[in-house]
Order: sequence, then structure tokens, then C-alpha cells
Amino acid sequence: MSKRKILVTSALPYANGSIHLGHLVEYIQTDIWVRFQKMQGHEVHYVCADDTHGTPIMLRAGIEGITPEALITRVHGEHLRDFTCFHIEFDNYYSTHSPETRHYAEGIYGRLKAAGLIMSRAVEQFYDPVKQMFLPDRFIKGECPKCGAKDQYGDNCESCGAAYAPTDLKNPYSAVTGAVPVRKASDHFFFKLSDDRCVNFLRRWTTSGTLQNEASNKMREWLGETGENKLSDWDISRDEPYFGFEIPGEPGKYFYVWLDAPVGYMGSFKKLCGDKGIDFDEFWKKDSTAELYHFIGKDILYFHALFWPAMLENAGYRTPSKIFAHGFLTVNGEKMSKSRGTFITAESYLQQGLNPEWLRYYYAAKLNATMEDIDLNLEDFATRVNSDLIGKYINIASRCAGFLTKHFDGRLLPLSGQSSSVAEINLEKNLVAASETIAIYYTERDYGKAVREITRLMDIANQYVDENKPWELAKDATQKDRLQVVCSAAIRAFVMLTIYLKPVLPNLARRVETDLLGLEQSLDWAAISKCRLDRILPYKHLMSRIDPHQTAALIEAGKVSLTPTINQPHSPQQHAQHQENIIETITPPVTISIDEFTKIDLRVARIINAELVEGADKLLKLTLDIGTEQRTVFAGIKSAYDPEKLKGRLTVMVVNLTPRKMKFGLSEGMVLAAGDGSGLYLLSPDEGAQPGMRIK
Ligand code: MSP
Ligand code: ZN
Repeated sequence: MSKRKILVTSALPYANGSIHLGHLVEYIQTDIWVRFQKMQGHEVHYVCADDTHGTPIMLRAGIEGITPEALITRVHGEHLRDFTCFHIEFDNYYSTHSPETRHYAEGIYGRLKAAGLIMSRAVEQFYDPVKQMFLPDRFIKGECPKCGAKDQYGDNCESCGAAYAPTDLKNPYSAVTGAVPVRKASDHFFFKLSDDRCVNFLRRWTTSGTLQNEASNKMREWLGETGENKLSDWDISRDEPYFGFEIPGEPGKYFYVWLDAPVGYMGSFKKLCGDKGIDFDEFWKKDSTAELYHFIGKDILYFHALFWPAMLENAGYRTPSKIFAHGFLTVNGEKMSKSRGTFITAESYLQQGLNPEWLRYYYAAKLNATMEDIDLNLEDFATRVNSDLIGKYINIASRCAGFLTKHFDGRLLPLSGQSSSVAEINLEKNLVAASETIAIYYTERDYGKAVREITRLMDIANQYVDENKPWELAKDATQKDRLQVVCSAAIRAFVMLTIYLKPVLPNLARRVETDLLGLEQSLDWAAISKCRLDRILPYKHLMSRIDPHQTAALIEAGKVSLTPTINQPHSPQQHAQHQENIIETITPPVTISIDEFTKIDLRVARIINAELVEGADKLLKLTLDIGTEQRTVFAGIKSAYDPEKLKGRLTVMVVNLTPRKMKFGLSEGMVLAAGDGSGLYLLSPDEGAQPGMRIK
């Protein structure tokens, strides 16, 4: 078999939210596939990155009072930490805010423009006069034109389900500032997707085996019949203020996030090529024979099966070999929901002490190659892990390894004509014979079937152990040889099962290799028929059972965690709003009553001392005089102020905030500062104000 060259990607998660169990469906699915292909000895590169651009990220940074750059750096660390904990092994995890991505985005745009596929026209949109920015539809709220429900988003009503344009809303307001939006025109750039070159190419490409059947049918719907032209040109620019790449030669105009996001696949790979000496062009040139696979969720099919291949084709690059789209995760049969506690972050799962490989195993058992949704049923999750993974698989080793260590110094007998009976020979035959079938299931992303086949083999191995009863052989001195034969056969079966499960349970497999087998090298697929084992080390505990309390605690913890929700758009129109959907939880309520306001006790305070805090990058420790007493406050203003210069000045403080215990001490309030991410400005009262004066 020749060595294939394969480049694999997973979709780039947005840099303004945490990784949750829904995301993990995709990254685990991809990681299993990549690990399997690597075990076959192919040259496989798996790259990903954070998707860092766009309005929601810019606004979120503003709300947190930091720059978008600082936000995406922090989130990159969090994402990579989560992925690493779940054993997702990227060859490179990068950022779209990178020189490489900028380079290719500009290059592709330049080539599309040279080919006459970029044009500009005026677009009228809602504009927030306070924030002085154009508002994506998701940032406009108002009353539903149909049922009159208040506070509905600009695209559809959550109360009656009506779909409409933001301009149809009654009494619209900006979800960012509450201001009444005005309509304003500005020039936008469009990628001419309706051009014959794009349409004809896409008709061919989407029906040439690059997509799953369901996806290909969806595309036919979106493309329309031959002769019909249903594709609209794609708006690829946004006006400043925007966090992204400025369009070359067009001051104040930026690439829309979805233009540079997929280019991030190239950017991340380019970085890897530089680090590892891989030839980038061999993978991306027009006639490349390398394979390129994108794993994505069904919600972003439109971008990956239309815009992206059309961009690549017309900019002189190769197009993807295949797009693999998966369905969405539901938890206990329903869409993930914060109120039900089923919006579970990767971090929360880990904090409950749940083993990441349990989830990998469960997802593998549920996944197939279709776009059907997959359900995480927490009861079923615990049952399967406990009964199959522990009860069937781990059980083989835990029942047999001890005898080998105790009576035979860990030595295994090889399968041989003399000592082995037909039972051992059959066991081995059964296990080896499944290799090809399981390999096909992995290749075709039919992991559920692979797991079922592996479970069938576990049953065969357990049946062998049950029938040959090593615990009884151990009691009879005349059966010593037989005991060694039986335990050797069982351990060999366990090792073969370990290899079969290795793409799913890489960490466990590694522990079997090192702790039980004392191997330095890593077992690959070929080892199934070739692996000669002569000795094992004393058995160490490999994996525990799930305690049902742990899954219950997960739901409880989910109820309090604060992570942005992502609505799942399904129609092309909604796709355009996909990125904007993520704002929801970061927009503060627009109006409050005077009673609510007066609950906040704001006072003039004098900073009588300010000092650096050891071990804190962002904090200053302030001592504040509020007339009647002194308070300590840890304020995140170190980046903007020299502590010496603060001493003696007046500022504004919230004095009735619940004190917060921090690593460095108790913080008894908060000082107020303005900031939009570009700087921080502490408030001061006019001259004459005295410490302790109430602000109202
Ligand atoms: N940033 C875009 C992708 C750009 S790719 C050039 C994006 N980000 S995302 O964070 O919203 O989603 C990342 C991936 O996770 C997507 O493929 C998405 O389909 C997938 N999932 C997000 N929520 C999911 C579930 N609840 N279930 C399964 N997959 C989910 O889209
Ligand atoms: Zn309505």
C-alpha cells in the first residue's frame, strides 16, 4: 500500500465562546479519523485554528474592557487546553489572526478580483448612531411585526416563529446600545457567485462525490435546476469598526469573517509547513494529488460546499477532496439548553472529574457518516461505559494479567501448535479476521459499527475466559501450563482490542503500551497480526467506572455556567447570520428602572494607595477612602496606569458590590473606568467633590 498524503481540518471554533460538548462531537470525530489514518502509516496532517474575526468578538472584547487581540490570545489558550485534555491531537492549532492567513486571504481576493469576480455596490443597512457602526441583523431587536412580541431579534420571532427582515421590526433598537438605528448606505464588495463560471463549476463539483448524498441534495436545492440561477452574490466586506483584515486598497473596508475563516485552514497549514519543512504547494496547487478533507457541522455546509470551493477554484488552488458534515449534539434528547443545565462546557465536564475518554468512547459508539443528530443520553452514557468499556474490555486484562505476574513472572506463551488448543487458535483467528472490517468502518466514519464489531470481539474474548476459568486453573497445580496458555491468549486478545480501540482511546492505549507491555514504540494497525508479546509488567489500574452522581453533578454545574449559546441556523439566509448569532448573552439588557439603578451605591472615593500585585498580570491593589471607611479593591487597570500616578486622585466606586475573594485577597468593591478595548480611562468627578459623596 502506498503512503497517502492527507490534510485534514476541523471547523475553526469562534474565539468568543468556550468549547462545549457539541463542539467536541466534531473534534473527536476528526481526531479518531486522523489517528486511524496515521496508524495506517499515511502522512497525515491535522490542522485547526481559532476563528478570531468579526463583530461579536470585537464587541465582547469591548465589554470585557480589553483589546480583541488580548481576548483572542486568552481564548486560544483556553481552547487549546480543552482540546488537549480531550486528547485532540492537532499538528497545528493556530489563529486566523495570523500573517499567513492574511497573506492567503489577500492573495485569493486579488486573484478573484483579477478574474473579474469581485464587484462593489451600495448596501443599505441599519446603523447604530451611538456606537457609530453598522449593525448585523442579530444585533437589532424590536417588536415582532406579526405578533407584537417584544425584544425579538432582527431575523425571526422566538415567540411566534415568524421570519422577517430587520427592517420589518416595529420600534427597532440596537442590541448594543439601545439606540434607535438609522438606515444608512455604504459600498460593499461582492464575490460574484452568480457568475456562470461559479455556477457551472459548483454544479459539477457538488455532484462529483465530494459531498454526502444528503448534502449533495441540499446543494441541488440551493443551486436550482440547470438554467435556473438561484445563487446570489456574496457580500464579503464589512465597514469599520470591524476586527479583521482590511481589504488591500480599500481603506475602512474589511474582509467579512467568513471570507478569511476557511483561509485559516491554509494559514494554519502554512505555519506547520514552515515548522516541519512540508511542501505547502504540494497540498494546495491546482493539480495536487494530496487529499484534503474538511470535517464540519451541517450548519456550515453552505460556506464549505459553495463559497469555499468556488473561491479556491477561481483563485487557482485545488478544491477539497471531500467535505464530511456531521449532525448536531442533543443532550437527553433535546437541544442543549442552559436552563436545563445541558449546555455543558468541556471545562465543566473535566471539573466534575469525568474521564475525557469516556466521552470519546460514547461519541464513537454513536457516530456514523450521516448528518443525523447524535444524542448524549447521560444514563445510557454511564451504562455503556460501565458495562462495555469497563465490564467487557478492561475486565479481560484485570481478570488475567495478575496470574501471569504471580505465577510466571509476567511471561506469556506464544500461540503454538503444541501448547495451544483449538480454543486459543480460534480466539486469535476471530480477532485478527475482524481487522479489515473494522478498518473499513473507521475509514468510512462509521464508528458506531466499528465499536459494535469491537464489542462483539470483547464478548468472544470474555466467553473464552469464562469457559477456561483461569481462577480455577490457578487452584490446581497440575494445570499450571494450561493457566499460562489461557492467560496468554486472553492478554493477546486484550492487546488486539486495544489496537482496535486506539483511535478512540489513545491515552488508555498508550498506558497499555507503556505500563502493561513496557513498549517504547507505539503499536500501529499492522501490529494486530504481527505483535509478538513475551512479557507483561505487573497490572496497574487502567480505568474506573462512572459514578452516576458524576453525571448528575454535570447537569447541576451546567445550570450555573455562563457560556454563550449558539443558535443553529439551517437555511442559507440564516447562514449569513451565523456568526452574528453568538452575541445574545453578551448584550446587557437595554433598559432598567430607576429603582434598579438606585440599588447601585456609587460613591466618590480617593485613592490613598495603589500598588502592584505579585503574580497578577492585570491587577493593581487600590486602597480607597470613601469618607466613612477605607476599602481594598483589586482593579484590572495595570495595563493603563502607573500606581504612583494614581495616589491621591479621586475616582468613582461601587461600594455595595458583594465582596469577592480573590487569590490575592478580598476585593471590596469596584472602581469605574471607561474602555472599548483600545484603552482604559478611570472616571473622576469634577473639582470640589469629596470622598464618600453619593453619585445619583
Ligand atoms: N467559526 C465557524 C467555523 C469556521 S470554519 C472555517 C463556526 N464556529 S463554531 O464555534 O460555531 O462551531 C465550530 C464547529 O462546531 C462547527 O462545525 C459546528 O457545526 C460545530 N458545532 C457547534 N455546536 C455543535 C453542536 N451542538 N453539535 C455538533 N456540532 C456543533 O461555526
Ligand atoms: Zn412573533
